[in-house]
Amino acid sequence: MKKDFLNISDLSKDEILQVIDYAVKLKKDKFQDQTLKGKSIGLIFMKPSTRTRLSFEVGVYQMGGQPLYITGSSTQLSRGEDIKDTARVMARYLDGVVIRTYSHNEIEQFAEYFDKPVINALTDYLHPCQILADLQTIYEKFGKLEGIKVAFVGDGNNVANTWLIAGGVVGFDVSVATPPEYEPSGKAVFEAVKHAEKTGAKINITNDPVEAVKNADVIYTDVWVSMGQEGEREKKEKFSGFQINKQLLNYASKDAIVMHCLPAHKGEEISEDIFEEFADVIFDEAENRLHSQKALMSFLFK
Ligand code: CP
Ligand code: NVA
Repeated sequence: MKKDFLNISDLSKDEILQVIDYAVKLKKDKFQDQTLKGKSIGLIFMKPSTRTRLSFEVGVYQMGGQPLYITGSSTQLSRGEDIKDTARVMARYLDGVVIRTYSHNEIEQFAEYFDKPVINALTDYLHPCQILADLQTIYEKFGKLEGIKVAFVGDGNNVANTWLIAGGVVGFDVSVATPPEYEPSGKAVFEAVKHAEKTGAKINITNDPVEAVKNADVIYTDVWVSMGQEGEREKKEKFSGFQINKQLLNYASKDAIVMHCLPAHKGEEISEDIFEEFADVIFDEAENRLHSQKALMSFLFK
């Protein structure tokens, strides 16, 4: 049966650890895994991207495959062709697809009609490839994922939703602090709690950034206005107190690291000085998109 990666929970805890471990190995020799030799992988992007698009293009090439970058406007999808018809056509040419789009339902529908692996490169609901790279980064910095506490401060968006589910599946604590109107998706919280019952992770949702960052090992943030929300810029006014800055970090443990999925809006969700203080971690995180996605593709396409 084909394997998709639409949600971080499409991998079990053991599979996530196995992929991360392999990503660390792949980092040492970029051409060592040729799983995609002779395979054509479509990269369908309905939203902009720097890291995800480049890391997939380079990663597919390094693994011996052919990446095909396909923008939304360049296909008949932009003229209303059905997703399920597009999926059935593409399945006749391609060996796998990576999709960045708006509605999560669209990628689920595509995956139903495309009989080979589908990878979620971000939807409005989830961003699992990002969290996979972040888990690799945390593993490299702390040597483990067990016992880690992650605090996400900012908008309860696709990245926050994925952190919650990842914590539940892998079994580490996640605390998400957002303004009251911008809490994470109830569906993501429900799924996270369901997994956490088995793994023992603590899942906490709060409107208090100080509560979230206390005892956290990783303080994480993302933009306040995500792609597709350009008309909601006034929402930023509700985020006062939710910036990762020196003042907030006073409440965190001394060894805590700060992470950001990028792109960053310095002066909004993160202060420039804190961004620069943790730039090495943040750009390692960006680099690990390449390695962790290669390890993921090796797992899905073997
Ligand atoms: N973090 C991330 O997904 O970046 P891009 O939007 O540049 O792909
Ligand atoms: N939450 C952001 C993540 C960007 C990588 C967005 O969806 O725009």
